[in-house]
Amino acid sequence: MNMLNKVFIAGGAGFIGSHFVDRLLTQPGVTGVTVYDNLSSGQLAYLSHHQSSSKLNVIEGDISDKEHLQRAMEQHHTVIHLASNPDIAKALTEPSIDFDQGTLLTHNIMEAMRITGASKILYASGSGIYGDVGMHEITEDHGPLLPISTYGASKLAGEALISAYCYMFDLKGLVFRFANVVGPRQTHGVGFDFIAKLKSNPNELTILGDGRQSKSYIYVSDVINAVLWANEKVQESFAAFNVATDDYITVTEIAKIAIDKVVGDSNKVKLDYAGGSRGWKGDIPVVRLNTEKIKRSGWRCQYSSSQAIAKSIDEMLNQDFSVFEHHKTNG
Ligand SMILES: NC(=O)c1ccc[n+]([C@@H]2O[C@H](COP(=O)([O-])OP(=O)(O)OC[C@H]3O[C@@H](n4cnc5c(N)ncnc54)[C@H](O)[C@@H]3O)[C@@H](O)[C@H]2O)c1
Repeated sequence: MNMLNKVFIAGGAGFIGSHFVDRLLTQPGVTGVTVYDNLSSGQLAYLSHHQSSSKLNVIEGDISDKEHLQRAMEQHHTVIHLASNPDIAKALTEPSIDFDQGTLLTHNIMEAMRITGASKILYASGSGIYGDVGMHEITEDHGPLLPISTYGASKLAGEALISAYCYMFDLKGLVFRFANVVGPRQTHGVGFDFIAKLKSNPNELTILGDGRQSKSYIYVSDVINAVLWANEKVQESFAAFNVATDDYITVTEIAKIAIDKVVGDSNKVKLDYAGGSRGWKGDIPVVRLNTEKIKRSGWRCQYSSSQAIAKSIDEMLNQDFSVFEHHKTNG
């Protein structure tokens, strides 16, 4: 069995990171959890229910500060790396963001691991590494890999750095190409966006693209299960896994679920389509991930895409509304 021991979570105050903290603090074999986060999109409030836990150490820091990162990483065995710019469209106005807040951060993480002796990394990659391959169902060995966003390019560069460090410096790395992840404490995403828009105008909902974009939406606990399951079962020094549901849902179907839950009567809301086949430049309208590889290790997804969307919208509606207000002011 591959033990986690003392775990360092880069980006642990964010959406997915805070769910890792919840799980790891109750996981046998975990002796301590350190969250390292600059709170750019994460929030201490996502961890406040663990305030009294002696196993959790929260460090506010930026991964671009190499010395501080290295000091914080001392004495850790496993690194879960989740820190990156979460907003794919942001590169349209800030073209360097995915290098500075993506590729470079992963390089700093790998260097800190090499120097401190942390031996295993579990990395949040994404389906964006594959580029736009239409209806083709993609397996992990698909090629050529031609991302169409700097976000996808940065995730691919991160995977490449991890692979290289694993071979050159005898580290172990598992990379996970997640579908769209949903659940409570989401800081972005289509369901989150629709709730924010409907709260501010319950009469009209603008949908980016033509609404026919069709992807897998996976519930956050299924993602945590996949990563921790693979960590335990997979022996290779480097491996990549797609992590997705077996089904897909369109953006218009998600809008209907959101309207039903936020407004109640879908006839009252005018749907306004911005047009074009994709939500924004760099968006991949159709994503089909084959998940046979991780299933062969024994992992199974609990929720379908529509169940995951419905559950996450219910849960987001119960979370502090100031999160959505914050989102609005940040575009
Ligand atoms: N949510 C999804 O649908 C999804 C899908 C595929 C991949 N991913 C990847 O999973 C990871 C986590 O995503 P998330 O949805 O939880 O996003 P998130 O924005 O909620 O979490 C990212 C965390 O990293 C922190 N961070 C960012 N830059 C940092 C820096 N320079 N130094 C220290 N901390 C920094 C943020 O404050 C935040 O807490 C990301 O890398 C994301 O690209 C997410």
